[in-house]
Amino acid sequence: MTGGVLFGPHFTAMVKIDTITLPDFPLLLAPMEDVSDPPFRVVCKDNGADLMYTEFISSEGLIRDAIKSRKKLDIFDYERPIGIQIFGGDEDSLAMAARIVDVTNPDLLDINFGCPVKKVAGKGAGAGVLKDIDLMIRLTDAVVKATRLPVTVKTRLGWDEQSKNIEEVAERLQDVGIKALAIHGRTRSQMYKGEADWSLIGKVKNNPRIKIPIFGNGDIDSPQKAVEYKNRYGVDGIMIGRAAIGYPWIFREIKHFVATGEMMAPPTVDERVEVCRRHLRKSLEWKGPIVGINEMRRHYANYLKGLPGIKDYRNRLVTLKTMEEVEGVLDEVQKNYAGYVIERDPIVLENYHEHCPL
Ligand SMILES: Cc1cc2nc3c(=O)[nH]c(=O)nc-3n(C[C@H](O)[C@H](O)[C@H](O)COP(=O)(O)O)c2cc1C
Repeated sequence: MTGGVLFGPHFTAMVKIDTITLPDFPLLLAPMEDVSDPPFRVVCKDNGADLMYTEFISSEGLIRDAIKSRKKLDIFDYERPIGIQIFGGDEDSLAMAARIVDVTNPDLLDINFGCPVKKVAGKGAGAGVLKDIDLMIRLTDAVVKATRLPVTVKTRLGWDEQSKNIEEVAERLQDVGIKALAIHGRTRSQMYKGEADWSLIGKVKNNPRIKIPIFGNGDIDSPQKAVEYKNRYGVDGIMIGRAAIGYPWIFREIKHFVATGEMMAPPTVDERVEVCRRHLRKSLEWKGPIVGINEMRRHYANYLKGLPGIKDYRNRLVTLKTMEEVEGVLDEVQKNYAGYVIERDPIVLENYHEHCPL
């Protein structure tokens, strides 16, 4: 147990995003393109994520009625509270997208002002907006006025080392009516390099003018770090991205650690296989039998990590074509590794430079 850390009964207050009530020190599943889809969200929700977001959705795509963008609007009641995240660099398009999102009735609407990849930031959307704060404020204002939903923002510290303007940005965003702010402790130029710097996140949180919840994001990979950063920076909650990929148990582990100061036992082989099955079934339900099976292939290695000799099973799993076949191999894994205890290795956070990393 870490000295001086507060556990259990000290955490009593709730966190409110407008009318949404979250438990104290809520754990948020970060929006992640190609990752935080409904099948993935279900296993994160099962394991304690308090608030989740969709993958980001292009406002232009929504307006064009692009199938990919539309599909990302799928949300389910068991996921609530859930936020839909949109991005764009044009006021009218963002406002129109907000009205489309409204109809699907999420609990909140999040605007992405952080995506650093060229195809987004280069067109003035995502983190591109960090170079033009007046524009960011106008875009946000347009969205707030277009929707009845609570609007939240997710962004980075600034464009580059010389322009870390998050303190000013937070005040101005609050002034135009956002209801919560999630901050990834890196600049756009950093992409994923170096360590996330939470000190500015702490400054925003401790600014007496700031009344909305501030969620810290970046590099949380263990219960100890989550609690340490909560205590050091005073954030209202923590948003977790990469650590949850293949390890949705991170949420329940953090909750357990917050409540007791103890590390929870890692998931058993049975649990790992059952969660993998649930993910698989949801994947097929939502994506259909072909895409569902194909897209599950990248998840097996994560779920089964740490089992000796698992490579053969994994190699088979990634070639199978039906759910029944996959379930058959999962049955074998469950039977052959019954009782085997997988040690909890430190989570390795991947550097997603080329993907859509925010
Ligand atoms: C594969 C991947 C896709 C991402 N897609 C989005 C996205 O669609 N919207 C967004 O706001 N952030 C996106 N991000 C950024 C994450 O939400 C988060 O800010 C970032 O990963 C830092 O948190 P972490 O260190 O806990 O992973 C993405 C990150 C990754 C790794």
